[in-house]
Amino acid sequence: MKPTAHSRILILDFGSQYTQVIARRVRECQVYSEIGRHDITAAEVEAMAPKGVILSGGPASVYEKSAPQIDLQIFSLGIPVLGICYGMQLMARHLGGEVEFSARREYGAGILHIDEETPLFHAVGEQMDIWSSHGDKLTALPTGFRAIAHTENSPFAVIEDAERRLYALQFHPEVSHTPRGKEIIQNFLFRICHCAMDWTMGSFIDEACARIRQQVGDEKVVLGLSGGVDSSVTAALLHRAIGDQLTCIFVNNGFLRENEPEIVQRVFGENFRIKLKYVDASERFLKLLEGVTDPEQKRKAIGLEFVRVFEQATEDLLAKDRADKRPHAGYRFLAQGTLYPDVIESVAIGGNPASLIKTHHNVGGLPEKMHFELVEPLRQLFKDEVRQAGLQLGLPNEIVLRQPFPGPGLAVRILGEVTPERLRILREADAIVVSEMQASDWYYRVWQSFAVLLPVHSVGVMGDQRTYENTIALRIVESQDGMTADWVRLPYEILARISSRIVNEVKGVNRVCYDISTKPPSTIEWE
Ligand code: XMP
Repeated sequence: MKPTAHSRILILDFGSQYTQVIARRVRECQVYSEIGRHDITAAEVEAMAPKGVILSGGPASVYEKSAPQIDLQIFSLGIPVLGICYGMQLMARHLGGEVEFSARREYGAGILHIDEETPLFHAVGEQMDIWSSHGDKLTALPTGFRAIAHTENSPFAVIEDAERRLYALQFHPEVSHTPRGKEIIQNFLFRICHCAMDWTMGSFIDEACARIRQQVGDEKVVLGLSGGVDSSVTAALLHRAIGDQLTCIFVNNGFLRENEPEIVQRVFGENFRIKLKYVDASERFLKLLEGVTDPEQKRKAIGLEFVRVFEQATEDLLAKDRADKRPHAGYRFLAQGTLYPDVIESVAIGGNPASLIKTHHNVGGLPEKMHFELVEPLRQLFKDEVRQAGLQLGLPNEIVLRQPFPGPGLAVRILGEVTPERLRILREADAIVVSEMQASDWYYRVWQSFAVLLPVHSVGVMGDQRTYENTIALRIVESQDGMTADWVRLPYEILARISSRIVNEVKGVNRVCYDISTKPPSTIEWE
C-alpha cells in the first residue's frame, strides 16, 4: 500500500459486513479509500499518510478475549478518527469510557436527537432516522469527550473529542437505512479531514495508464479476454496505455452464450483494433466433458483445459513472432482483471460470510510455471467503478453493463451431461431470456437472469400429441455482490412471455419453472 498524491481515507476492518460499503461510500464522495487490517501499526498508518481513519463495526464484543484490537497509538497520531459501532466501543473503552456488556444485540431503526453543534452533523438538522446493530453500549464518556446526540436507549449515541479530532457513532451511517448517513460521511471527509475531491475515473485512467507504462516499459503483455466486464475493461485500459504491445487471447470453450464470440470480436477486434487472437477450442472442450455429470469434475476439467489452451495460444504467438523476426519476441507480462474485493486482506471474525473469498470464482488460475509477471490495473477498483471506467474508455453498454457469467459458462447450467444437443437447447432458451429481459428493461435492474437446463423430462401435450421433453428453470436474482441473493419478483406478464416463447420456439422443451430460492441456502448457479 504505497501512498499516492490522493487524499486518502484508511478504513480499519473489524469484521463488519459493511466495511466495503463504508469504502464505497467514501469513494462516492470522490475521495480515495482503502481498507486495512485492524491490527495495522500506528507507524504503518503514519507512513500511509491518510487524511482520516474510520474504524468499522464488527460482530465481536470489546469484552471478548479474542476481540480484535487496535494499536492505541493510532489515536495519538493527530489524524482524525471516526469510530462506527464496534469502532466506537473500542475507542471509548481504551480512552477511559465505560462500555456495558449486553448479551442481546439490538438491530433496527431508531431516531437520533442531535443536542450539540459539531462539524460532523453540519446541516443535518435536529433529528434523523438511523439504523443500528449493536450489543454493547456506552454508559460513561471517555476522558475529554462530550456527548453530541442521543437516542431513546442511549445517552451517548454520538460522541466527540474535537481537540484530538476523535469522533464516534453508535449507528451505521454507511447503510441506506440511515438516509442522511452520507452527509455525515461527507462532513467527516471535508469538514474534519479536509480531503480533496480528487478520486475521479478520469484521473484514475490517466494514472493507471502511467503506471502500466512504467511497469511494462516496451515489453509485451498478454491478456485472457473472456468478454466479461473485468477482462474487457482491463483490455481497453491496457490498450489505451500501451497499444499494440497488448495481445488478447479469446478462447471459445464452446459454452458461450449466443453471439458472444461475434460480439467480442466485433467490439475488440474491429472497433478497438486490439490485437486479438481468437481460439475456437469448442470441440476440444465438448469432447472432454463426454460422460461427465459431476459438477466439480466439470469445473475442474474445464479449468485445466483452459490453461492448456491458453498456454498453447501464447506459444503460437511466440512462434509467429519469431517467424516474423520481430524484436521483443517474449511475452513477459500477463494482465488480469483482479478487482479490489479480491485483494482486500479479509478478517474472518465471528464467521462473517462476507469476509470469505470464493477462490473458484477468481478465474485465471494460470500456473506459475508460465513465469509471467502480473499486470493488474483494476486492483484498486470496486465493480461499479470498473463499469464507470469502461464507459469512459469507450466500451459499449452491451459489454460494460452485462451480467456476470461464470468461467465454465453454459456447462454449469446444464445439469447432467453436456452434449451438443443439450447445449443447443440451453443456448436458445437463454437467448430468449436475455432478449425479453432487455426488451422490458429488467436486464439492467437485476444481478443475473438466465436459463438452466434440468436433467428432467416430463409429459406434455402439443396439438394432439403427447410429448415427453426437457424442463428449463429460470433463475433471476437480485444481489449486491453475488454473496447473497434473492429471487426477483418479476411481473407475471414477463414471466409468461419468456415461458411461452421458450416452449414454443425451443425444440425439445415443454415445461418452464421459476426458481424461487434465496442464497443462502441455495447458490445462484445450479452447479
Ligand atoms: P454462486 O453460484 O456461487 O455464484 O452463488 C455467485 C456468483 O459468482 C458467479 N460464478 C462464477 N464466476 N467463474 C466466475 O467468474 C466461476 O467459475 C463462477 N461460478 C459462479 C455466479 O454467476 C454468480 O454471479
